[in-house]
Amino acid sequence: MKILVVGGGGREHAIIKKLNENPAVDVIYAVPGNAGMAEDAECVKISVSDLDAIVDFAKSHFVDYAVVAPDNPLVDGCVDKLEEAGIPSFGPRANAAIIEGSKVFSKNLMKKYGIPTAAYEVFTSAADALEYVKTCPIPTVVKADGLALGKGVVIAETREDAQAAIVSIMEDKKFGASGDSIVIEEFLTGPEVSVLSFTDGKVVVPMVSSMDHKRALDGDKGLNTGGMGTIAPNPYYTPEIAERCMKEIFLPTMHAMNKEGRTFKGCLYFGLMLCADGPKVIEYNCRFGDPETQVVLPLLKSDLLTIMQAVTDERLADVEVEFSDGAACCVVVASDGYPGSYEKGRPLVIEDEVKDKVFVAGAAFKDGVLVTNGGRVLGCTATAEDLPSAIKAAYEVVEKVHFDNAYFRHDIGAKALKALE
Ligand code: AMP
Ligand code: GLY
Repeated sequence: MKILVVGGGGREHAIIKKLNENPAVDVIYAVPGNAGMAEDAECVKISVSDLDAIVDFAKSHFVDYAVVAPDNPLVDGCVDKLEEAGIPSFGPRANAAIIEGSKVFSKNLMKKYGIPTAAYEVFTSAADALEYVKTCPIPTVVKADGLALGKGVVIAETREDAQAAIVSIMEDKKFGASGDSIVIEEFLTGPEVSVLSFTDGKVVVPMVSSMDHKRALDGDKGLNTGGMGTIAPNPYYTPEIAERCMKEIFLPTMHAMNKEGRTFKGCLYFGLMLCADGPKVIEYNCRFGDPETQVVLPLLKSDLLTIMQAVTDERLADVEVEFSDGAACCVVVASDGYPGSYEKGRPLVIEDEVKDKVFVAGAAFKDGVLVTNGGRVLGCTATAEDLPSAIKAAYEVVEKVHFDNAYFRHDIGAKALKALE
């Protein structure tokens, strides 16, 4: 079989390694992939936003199955175009990917169908929003409606912060048209849990839960990033809470999307907060999370391609989705300065003995040498029988990867270990 994977980061590397475990897979094309995954996939220099070129490539190379991983191409209809060209694909169509593509849509969906989430107001005028934050409870949360590279959320500790966020998103158009509308919502507190799920619109099958570490610095300090590390399973996510989430959030969301004529097929990501009065949705993503995928898929015992094809064919209930009882930890090694400005092009060495434990997020070849090519460069991942061992093993992998100005957090999993005590 010929598989095409759209995307080029650590998440895609984790997906590709897992797909390669299926003996029926002959070749995987990564569009665009990155140099660090060249041993696992054939990298094709096409941008993830050039949907027509992706479809042309898939057709001319007789691709049997496509997996679209990143948010932008999903929201822009990459799966629609691939399927129209006769190529079965994993991922939601554009009319369902809107669950991530528009926060106004997802908040209104949750309100309409009684799915627990933070109380909110929608604004299409900066003047109205500025008036509202004069008196709303503080802290408050300001969110750009559309996709914003994961940076469209501002936790405003003061009224001035809230005003500044509104001006920057709605008037200065920091995220372009994504800021034409905003959501201002209640500030919630509680442990956060990421639950990725497979769904074909008929059943929802949650994957093992995980915990992201979004801030750049130890102790959850510093700027928000795309994620500096993950652990799975998330110890806060007990079987009782999981049962409640299925009943109050996962199934209601699937049914709501069906009722709206927007059946979601693919990986639906639930970003949850476990509040004192129950679990609530912080965000939906229409895709695998990154770096969550880098801990979740190594724990998947069943065959990923089989599951994905079952999602496409709407027979997910018939296949086995089994996770190991162990734990996993992923420590992201980034270029110093990330998520601000950072240098690229540093020679990158991954020692042979850990090659199978490193997902490469940002690398390129320069004069035949592997060099860094991104903020997040590597995801050093280990699985073990329990969380403490997985964390220890992941940091041992970190010792065996090398580039100048490498930066990583030293406390990935520390909060989870505390919860276990
Ligand atoms: P998002 O980009 O939607 O994942 O938001 C980024 C982060 O902001 C989340 O992981 C939360 O930590 C935080 N956040 C978002 N919404 C809220 C909220 N209503 N209350 C408290 N924290 C929030
Ligand atoms: N790690 C969070 C995300 O993928 O959105």
